[in-house]
Amino acid sequence: MRVFLVAGARPNFMKVAPLLETLHAKSDRVPELQPFLIHTGQHYDSQMSDDFFRDLGMPMPDIYLGAGSGSHAEQTARVMVAFEKACVEHKPVLVVVVGDVNSTLACAISAKKLGIPVAHVEAGLRSRDMSMPEEINRLCTDIISDFLFTTDELASANLIAEGCAPERIYFVGNTMIDSLTKHLGRALAAPLPYGLEAGSYALLTLHRPSNVDEPVALHCLFDAINAIADYIPVIFPAHPRTAQRMGTIQLHHGVRVIEPLAYLSFLGLMARARIVLTDSGGIQEETTVLHVPCLTLRRNTERPITCEQGTNFVVGTDPREILQSALHVLNAPPPKNLIPDKWDGHAGERIADILLGWLSPNRATAAIGSAVTSGTGPAKKTAE
Ligand code: UD1
Repeated sequence: MRVFLVAGARPNFMKVAPLLETLHAKSDRVPELQPFLIHTGQHYDSQMSDDFFRDLGMPMPDIYLGAGSGSHAEQTARVMVAFEKACVEHKPVLVVVVGDVNSTLACAISAKKLGIPVAHVEAGLRSRDMSMPEEINRLCTDIISDFLFTTDELASANLIAEGCAPERIYFVGNTMIDSLTKHLGRALAAPLPYGLEAGSYALLTLHRPSNVDEPVALHCLFDAINAIADYIPVIFPAHPRTAQRMGTIQLHHGVRVIEPLAYLSFLGLMARARIVLTDSGGIQEETTVLHVPCLTLRRNTERPITCEQGTNFVVGTDPREILQSALHVLNAPPPKNLIPDKWDGHAGERIADILLGWLSPNRATAAIGSAVTSGTGPAKKTAE
């Protein structure tokens, strides 16, 4: 009885690892269960993929689809075709997708059209910004998924408001935080690079198309970053997409551009930063758990809980506002914030318990801890 777990791009690996590990650890409950790790190949450089497998202690993928880069349609289509073939050959009883990248949507569609139930981990997040490719991926994946695993109750409420049946929704917490909780000690054991001292530098990441594909937008952001570098050194591990577009930008001597970092190195830098500036989704969540102030360089967030309870400020892309917000944070004491409910390192276990309950030959109720209802999931197909 095969269960496919899909990972394709950098932010997926941390979300899949805890669930894969827990399914293996609890496999005695469903002895015929075979978790299969599928890597779509959306990210393929060692810095964007292999190094993450090493740091997270993940096994090699059982199937590598080799989709690679391309336009959205090309990339999504290549993953769909290759994934459909893998499903036809290996006949999984369930496909688990995570996050909001093109691989997430592609695999959900291919599986669903073959009649295979789909579980979406990190369902219900909404930026309400349809110019974000990830928002389209989230909406389309959620509408066809049978299990909707949410990281917070705002996400569950979004799904209810969109008409999703409550029995499909399970509030389980955040598997990316499971990975953080597990690996933080190792990340902090390594000394900081470049002679940096804890609490004395800013960490920057940028890769959203809306920020980096348009030269004027990217120049404006670096006006702000250069101004911030007058006050605090800035470390910038540049995503390949951004690195390709940095050509003509003049950088302050306090801005250090480095290669993308593997998981542990990045976590170690983030946990000890004075401030983080980012347009990433996941980093808004990680900084909240680490109690590190985060300025989100976007006009919106699909993760409002990190602003309501955590350390996140959505500051937009205007250089003056970014500088003002950064100076405000740098002049204030480090924040005291809440950690959202169920971001406790056990989300993968909750998901595994629900799925194993559903897969179990003596299927009882599948639901534990669902904020919305006691979901039962879809009708189970006979195991192959
Ligand atoms: C993708 C996800 C985004 C996620 C991000 C994390 C979608 C729509 N976007 O965006 O949600 O936050 O990953 O990194 O799925 N490239 C390399 N090496 C690689 C992978 C990509 O050089 O291993 C280059 C590609 O040639 C391409 C660019 O980076 O030009 C963008 O890659 P792509 O996967 O298309 O999108 P991301 O911007 O990484």
